[in-house]
Amino acid sequence: MSEVLRLGMAGLGVASTQIMPPIAKLPFIKITAAADMRADAVAKFREQYRGEGFNSVEELCASPNIDAVYIATPNSLHAEHAIIAAKNKKHIIVEKPMAMNLAECDAMNEAADKYGVKLLCGHTHSFDPPIRKMREIVKSGELGKLCMINSWNYNEFMYRPRMKHELAMTRGVVLNQGPHHVDIVRLIGGGLVRSVRAMTGVWDPAREWEGSYTCFLEFEDGTPATLVYSGYGFFDTAELFSWVGEGGQHRAPETNLNVRKSLREVRSAEEEEQLKEGMRFGGKREGEYSHVWSGERKQPFFGHTVVSCQKGDIRQTPDGLKIYGETEQREINLPAGSRGREAEVEELYDAVVNGRPVFHGGRWGAATLEVCLAMLESAKQRKEIMLSHQVASPE
Ligand SMILES: NC(=O)c1ccc[n+]([C@@H]2O[C@H](COP(=O)([O-])OP(=O)(O)OC[C@H]3O[C@@H](n4cnc5c(N)ncnc54)[C@H](O)[C@@H]3O)[C@@H](O)[C@H]2O)c1
Repeated sequence: MSEVLRLGMAGLGVASTQIMPPIAKLPFIKITAAADMRADAVAKFREQYRGEGFNSVEELCASPNIDAVYIATPNSLHAEHAIIAAKNKKHIIVEKPMAMNLAECDAMNEAADKYGVKLLCGHTHSFDPPIRKMREIVKSGELGKLCMINSWNYNEFMYRPRMKHELAMTRGVVLNQGPHHVDIVRLIGGGLVRSVRAMTGVWDPAREWEGSYTCFLEFEDGTPATLVYSGYGFFDTAELFSWVGEGGQHRAPETNLNVRKSLREVRSAEEEEQLKEGMRFGGKREGEYSHVWSGERKQPFFGHTVVSCQKGDIRQTPDGLKIYGETEQREINLPAGSRGREAEVEELYDAVVNGRPVFHGGRWGAATLEVCLAMLESAKQRKEIMLSHQVASPE
């Protein structure tokens, strides 16, 4: 393989409008092909990226002009498309959630092993520099033993332009936003979750899927963690964070009110589909709902996470971290660093070209999905759920 990793994009939907622009700027990546069933999007891709355009993921994966595939098709197709990629000896980045269930994750991991390709579970905020730094501090032991992790995220997720069948597929926030949240907490806590107790909430009769969860995790070593999420667009955790949003961009204080209002006006399934279609690659509103931001960027912020150790607490700040120690409080400014999609492809590149281990591999992704699925099961049974697919945080 050349020193440039040639990437094929599977799915030119809304996610692709967030994935391709930052990746296209990286010197060690070239987006050389894409596939989608929407002919207009494929035509626009050929024109804009001067790459090959295909109508199916099978054709894309058969191309000799790609080394890896970035899978951003609907969640129910992630396993099928990852396995096609593996059979064609293409490395894989798969969007969250990794798959629909653990059997699919197992099949994806087996295919990646069998055909000798790297499988990376992409797009979670555990790639963000402040989260990695929190893990580093915990692991170094400089603040003593890790004692608890508490993380809150409140935003307007349930009212973002999204079709009802997508909310059904992800059980609202649980399988869509849960993977970010769980990855953050698992990474900091060492990865090995012993059990999950959670309750989920369906508060809006017009959106009949889970818009909130309250979750208690216990790690194998006894460390407790709580994860709280509300996507109902009332309070906004960004208010506690100088109005910095998920991608490190400015988040307007009126976001929740405006998004709730605009979605109340959209009713039918056709209107929802039109709204979403407009935001896909090649659509009239492409990139409108994106965390990609060309202005000043602070550190990405996925909720208010406080990590407590025996000798101090750590929390994120817009520029890095603040540490509340026994005798002093200090702030650490972190370099912007690579984050989000840039960090993912960098990790894949390092694995493929430099032989480094994949940090967010398929077994890591399966373990995160197991926690998310256990939240649903725990809420259903109103019981603690014991886990069996957990793997440790990478060194
Ligand atoms: N929408 C977002 O902001 C966002 C952000 C991060 C991650 N994601 C993830 O990205 C994935 C896609 O979400 P999305 O919102 O972009 O959905 P989307 O519906 O906008 O995009 C999916 C695309 O895949 C195409 N497609 C469907 N079946 C296909 C097939 N068999 N072969 C080729 N193309 C096919 C569709 O035509 C569409 O363009 C999901 O896993 C989602 O969780 C979405």
